[in-house]
Amino acid sequence: MPETVSIRSLPASEAPARLAELAHVLHDCVEGGASVNFLADFTPEQAEGFWRGQMPGLEVGDRALFVAEEAGRIVGTVILFFAQQPNQPHRGEIGKMLVLRSHRGRGLGRRLLAAAEDAARAAGRTLLVLDTADGSAGDRLYRACGWTAFGTVPGYALTTDGRPEAATFFYKTL
Ligand SMILES: CC(C)(COP(=O)(O)OP(=O)(O)OC[C@H]1O[C@@H](n2cnc3c(N)ncnc32)[C@H](O)[C@@H]1OP(=O)(O)O)[C@@H](O)C(=O)NCCC(=O)NCCS
Repeated sequence: MPETVSIRSLPASEAPARLAELAHVLHDCVEGGASVNFLADFTPEQAEGFWRGQMPGLEVGDRALFVAEEAGRIVGTVILFFAQQPNQPHRGEIGKMLVLRSHRGRGLGRRLLAAAEDAARAAGRTLLVLDTADGSAGDRLYRACGWTAFGTVPGYALTTDGRPEAATFFYKTL
């Protein structure tokens, strides 16, 4: 299956036409209980609204979006945010690392993350940070990909069904 899935940067010029597919991936992950900023009552329309909100940033280039595509359909995403603080020109952040439930465990998360890391390196970003629900599949993915956990904050966010959950913060030097 991984051979049939390609990973690429989705340019700002193409992204608006793919909002429904992007929303489907995000909604599927939240429906599956992923801790990615939203709660269980999250709707497909709200998922589309989230992605619509990313479009201006893609346009101005303060972030880059990478997608996994199978037969022309988006099955995974990751966003690389370029820190905008004048004293952090070397830093980036990873967000919305998402793979459809039907496509997990096939190396797509690893490939998406590698694409974002490669792009960060190419842009001169040498330090990346992120946070994820402690003990989650994301937590395992980042450890497997050479990221360093530097702290866990109890009750940082709520699970999709509203229970406080710890988040672990990671960094990776590129
Ligand atoms: C996290 C997520 C993106 C991983 O995607 P994936 O395509 O299944 O990950 P991969 O197949 O590339 O896994 C790479 C490595 O991560 C680790 N890993 C990923 N998911 C895992 C799981 N459920 N249990 C244990 N290890 C896991 C493994 O080490 C794996 O390597 P291996 O298969 O050689 O053992 C996916 O589970 C997901 O979308 N989850 C919901 C959204 C989310 O929580 N994202 C993180 C928010 S920060």
